[in-house]
Amino acid sequence: MGIAKMDTRRRQSRILVTGGAGFIGSHTVVELQQCGYSVVIVDNLSNSRADVVDRIAKITGVRPEFHEFDLTDRAKTEAFFASASDLDAVIHFAAFKAVGESVRDPLAYYRNNLESLLRVLEGMRRHGTQNLVFSSSATVYGQPDELPVRETSPVQEAWSPYGSTKQMAEEILRFSVAAYGLRAIALRYFNPVGAHESALIGELPLGVPNNLVPFITQTAAGLHDCLEVFGTDYGTPDGTAVRDYIHVVDLARAHVTAVARMIGGKTRSDLEVFNLGTGKGYSVREVIDAFERVSGVRLNVRTVGRRSGDVEQVWADTSLANRELGWKAEKGLDDMMRSAWKWEQALSRSRSAGKE
Ligand code: UFG
Repeated sequence: MGIAKMDTRRRQSRILVTGGAGFIGSHTVVELQQCGYSVVIVDNLSNSRADVVDRIAKITGVRPEFHEFDLTDRAKTEAFFASASDLDAVIHFAAFKAVGESVRDPLAYYRNNLESLLRVLEGMRRHGTQNLVFSSSATVYGQPDELPVRETSPVQEAWSPYGSTKQMAEEILRFSVAAYGLRAIALRYFNPVGAHESALIGELPLGVPNNLVPFITQTAAGLHDCLEVFGTDYGTPDGTAVRDYIHVVDLARAHVTAVARMIGGKTRSDLEVFNLGTGKGYSVREVIDAFERVSGVRLNVRTVGRRSGDVEQVWADTSLANRELGWKAEKGLDDMMRSAWKWEQALSRSRSAGKE
């Protein structure tokens, strides 16, 4: 073949997304594929469903490669990495994430969240994959002394075993990158909510949801009699707790920019840490008001005491991610509520059609 005829198309970068059938994972797979990346998902479906892969294919027109196994399984993870040595980066989402459950069964959280990270790092190290994006959490800050909270704010003593696994994972990364010549970006998420505009993917809470937005949408859909507001005596303008809610699609896009930064060799250190939020805090009351406004549904709300373990208020300083990743959250609270409601209504329709 003459030089002029050679295929000059660039090889698609290939990304392993662990937990790619989950809430943030599935949205990230969609954004990666829409940006031309080739994706392979590993997920044990412990908190997700296999049809998410079909739904991703429906949205993007591309079916991601999918392997169902548990990343804490050393032999299976090793075999996977041995056969997938062409990976350019790994995005590691696979983890348990329920704060209350972690308090009831800490060992399950340490075992699952840390063992899976160790197995992934071992696989990367042995088979020459250098770049890792890790899903961390704003929970590492606890109640920060200064707001908005910056990446340089101190990591505080963990408030839950779940938070503890995120702190420990960041420490594992800090020492592993240096020792093994790896690079990592830890993304500290604030409160991810909302769903893809297609309403084909979204959050699928197991049982009764703990988080505010799924509880709101389920209450509006008639699955609960009333929404409880936990605490009205906080030192915030309306007395309810304040969080930095971020649309899951904005969050997903930040992962694409993080991957591109690593593959493009643009990282400034072996372990970088970025806050992912909008930089705006909203109170529980404001979230409820926004939901009622965009959905036209009035919620039956009851105020109760504070939920133990909750911080009063936290929102992100996002200037580092804005500057370094060239990323900024674009969607506001109304978009978050609208898409979450559209997703809940799609779930209701499939429930009444007997598919759930
Ligand atoms: N809330 C209610 N009623 C509900 C549910 C929540 O009033 O039915 C309130 C909470 O008390 C809190 C706010 O809504 O003030 C947000 O609560 P979420 O449970 O949605 O979110 P959290 O901020 O508690 O949780 C987030 C992440 C976790 C992380 C945790 C650390 O979702 O992954 O922060 O604090 F671990």
